[in-house]
Amino acid sequence: MTKRLKGKRVIVIGSATGIGAATVQRLVEEGAHVCAADINLEGAERLAGQVGGDSFAVPVDIADEASVGIAVARAVEELGGLDGVHINAADLRVIFQDSNALDVDLAVFDRTIAVNLRGHLLCTRAVLPHLLASQAGAIVYTSSGSARGGEPERPCYAMSKGGLEALMRHVASRWGREGITANVVAPGFTMTQEMQAGGQVPQAVIDHFLDSGRSFRLGRSEDQAAVAAMLLSDDGRWINGQVINVNGGAMF
Ligand code: NAI
Repeated sequence: MTKRLKGKRVIVIGSATGIGAATVQRLVEEGAHVCAADINLEGAERLAGQVGGDSFAVPVDIADEASVGIAVARAVEELGGLDGVHINAADLRVIFQDSNALDVDLAVFDRTIAVNLRGHLLCTRAVLPHLLASQAGAIVYTSSGSARGGEPERPCYAMSKGGLEALMRHVASRWGREGITANVVAPGFTMTQEMQAGGQVPQAVIDHFLDSGRSFRLGRSEDQAAVAAMLLSDDGRWINGQVINVNGGAMF
């Protein structure tokens, strides 16, 4: 694999499993020095041990402002600066309790917004000064087709991801002139361990997607990681303010 990220200093927030873990692996393979930050420290440490190379783990709960500040400070100190951040965390256990606007549990709404929206703002605010110092800083967020596709069963999740895409556009439009890029990777069905184990996507929905003829398979974490890596590399330098759908051709 080419080392197009050689010398880049990157934090992946929400990195212990799934798409974030695949992104850490991919970034290390491409030569980056990577901090794997996650609420699941054990998982992040295990991952850093497995991928080897230039990677290490720090704990963070992105719903907690103090925790975000401490984690980013530790990461930047060890990395010696910051060139890129992938903000990817979401609490799938909460998302799977989402229902519909009539039945919605406001505790689920609050936790979803605390992590998927407020937490992403906290992370953005913490990393921006360091990315500005690098003069070529890149932020990648993980959204979802749910932000735009209509979600009959997950309104809180959809609202949070819609807001996240608005945050991304704000960052892109406010700091583009200062060398920052901000973009969203929007995965379609990506069969992470969590998704498979939980059986959270009804088979009928998967069958409908595959029967549409748009794709020959479901997504893999590596599909998402490849695009995040491109956006964090110099190949993505003139991509700003975009939602990149990585969804095998689904229409949102
Ligand atoms: P995952 O559960 O494997 O990864 C999420 C990671 O975020 C985990 O390592 C978890 O420990 C961490 N996390 C959760 N709450 C946190 C907190 N408060 N602070 C720090 N870390 C926290 O799930 P997956 O599927 O890899 O999801 C990654 C992203 O992709 C999420 O933003 C999700 O909404 C998005 N997505 C995933 C899709 C899929 O089909 N897997 C489809 C569309 C979007």
